[in-house]
Amino acid sequence: MDKKIMVGAFAKRKAAGEKIVMVTAYDAPFAALAAAAGIDVILVGDSVATTVMGYSTTLPVTMEELIHHVKAVRRGAPNAFIVFDLPFMSYQVSEEEAMRNAGRALKEAGADAVKFEGGAEYAPLVKKMVLAGIPVMAHLGLLPQRIHAVGGYKVAGRNAEAAEQLVEDARALEAAGAFSVVLECVPAQLGERITGALTIPTIGIGSGAGCSGQVQVLHDVLGLLPGFTPKHAKHFAEIGAAVRDALHSYADAVRNGTFPGKENSFE
Ligand code: KIV
Repeated sequence: MDKKIMVGAFAKRKAAGEKIVMVTAYDAPFAALAAAAGIDVILVGDSVATTVMGYSTTLPVTMEELIHHVKAVRRGAPNAFIVFDLPFMSYQVSEEEAMRNAGRALKEAGADAVKFEGGAEYAPLVKKMVLAGIPVMAHLGLLPQRIHAVGGYKVAGRNAEAAEQLVEDARALEAAGAFSVVLECVPAQLGERITGALTIPTIGIGSGAGCSGQVQVLHDVLGLLPGFTPKHAKHFAEIGAAVRDALHSYADAVRNGTFPGKENSFE
């Protein structure tokens, strides 16, 4: 991340056919590694609830907790473009509360933009935020904050009516001033169709290669969590297994007396 991507560059990247790469991070060391790897955008996702905090859904994480994590990410990657994922109930209650919380994301936490889940019903709020100087990344498709209403994590836009609604939502959010749209788990063909219908880029997760960029959860990319791997994800390393093996070796070394050695001790 030598040169920070700016909001105006997102549409230009899309027009130039350059893919945008986004990954989540939740703390300073991993943010620094993402920046060093040349990742374009760091998302401090509300997925921190499940990846780091041990919850089974994203719903419990609070504004205060997100601010805490975004500050850490900013310290680790001072020049990164950082997106603050507004948590459940931080923007749904009223526009006034949403504005206040989005403002805190930039002012207190040091983020460059906010992201929140929802369609055309949020276009007026997007417009208000953008007018106030708060860049907005929209989020359509599978909306994890609505898990209880929808009844699970399901691919979105599978029938013609739902697909049409998503295209309309994306258009409305673009018209309201969103600078990009995350498309989560929509069929690849629909991902391509929505991308073609917009000037702003789509950032896909489980929405096919036709999107203008991709976002993945850091823990999936690194193979940090044992067990279930979502279909849309790929482990590019097995860091979880490497950590477990390293800790095993450390415990063995302490127990058999080979650690600490003379080289780890002081005269
Ligand atoms: O919270 C998150 O990590 C996200 C991505 C899955 C897009 O919203």
